[in-house]
Amino acid sequence: MKHYPVMLPEVLKSLSMADGETCVDGTFGNGGYSAAILEGAVCNVVGLDRDPNVTSRADDFVSAWGDRFRLIQTPFSKMDEVGLSGVNSVVLDIGVSSMQLDQAERGFSFMREGPLDMRMEQGGGPTARDAVMHLSVAELTRVFQVYGEEKRARHVANCIVSAREVEDIVTTADLASILEKALGRRGKTHPATRVFQALRIFVNDELGELYRGLCAAERILLPGGRLVVVTFHSLEDRIVKSFFRRRAGEVSGGSRYAPEIVNTGPPASFNLPKRSVTKPSDLEVSENARSRSAKLRLAVRTDADAFVADDRLLPDVMSLSELEARL
Ligand SMILES: C[S@@+](CC[C@H](N)C(=O)[O-])C[C@H]1O[C@@H](n2cnc3c(N)ncnc32)[C@H](O)[C@@H]1O
Repeated sequence: MKHYPVMLPEVLKSLSMADGETCVDGTFGNGGYSAAILEGAVCNVVGLDRDPNVTSRADDFVSAWGDRFRLIQTPFSKMDEVGLSGVNSVVLDIGVSSMQLDQAERGFSFMREGPLDMRMEQGGGPTARDAVMHLSVAELTRVFQVYGEEKRARHVANCIVSAREVEDIVTTADLASILEKALGRRGKTHPATRVFQALRIFVNDELGELYRGLCAAERILLPGGRLVVVTFHSLEDRIVKSFFRRRAGEVSGGSRYAPEIVNTGPPASFNLPKRSVTKPSDLEVSENARSRSAKLRLAVRTDADAFVADDRLLPDVMSLSELEARL
């Protein structure tokens, strides 16, 4: 599989890096964004990734760029706890990388047989197998409904629970075959797509990470700093959009008699440029199907204090720690 950095020209334009500035690439992955940022200006990049597999790629970057680049292995939600502050830009490219999907042993892909794992950090915390083996029908239903937007979530959850009573679900192929039987093969999308996505989001707490990552970026960006986020589905985009609107003071009047935007909260910590959301070009979509659902959002940090973080933007789904406590 070819690895394309999604919406690269749009990301570079939004980051608008100048010489001497520092960018945090919160989702280093294969380093597609980092390389282009380092090439575009005499600036510094701090790459973050929670997946230890990216370190060899990062070593190549240190050889090529010297002290203009360094990698910190951490979830991006902790970017303000690993010594970063006063940066000029932060970019997040949410989700799984094509390298992670390609590696059968990581368990991300229903197209490749491997252990049903899906943990980006490759250690600690429950796996996707723990989720399908230990969550109740109601809990699985909620995970598939919310994180996978799977319309037949309850039916799928029932089929999984019946199947695990007969035999343990161990591999990606075991689960894919249960899902194929449960949902049949209709249309272009593989029946396992939504459930695999839901389990991946659950096991990595991806929405919680996203929200806390936005809050952490808010705390480390300098006034005038750019926050650029590329998402791939509506759940993620909704969180970014709501976060940006709140931080920009765009809170609806909440009444049909006063529907205009009113700012009743603290001073805005971000400004939204006129075109704060961008989609990939037709050419990019024709060359890289994965980009078709991508959306890029940009916000520019003001000099106001960061807001106090709260989790109101997150959907109400059981937490990973609840599952962990049960194992
Ligand atoms: C879509 S890829 C990024 C690709 C990258 N922009 C490039 O051009 O090569 C996403 C990467 O982000 C990492 N990642 C996902 N969630 C993360 C998180 N919460 N914290 C840190 N890294 C994360 C994944 O491990 C993966 O390597």
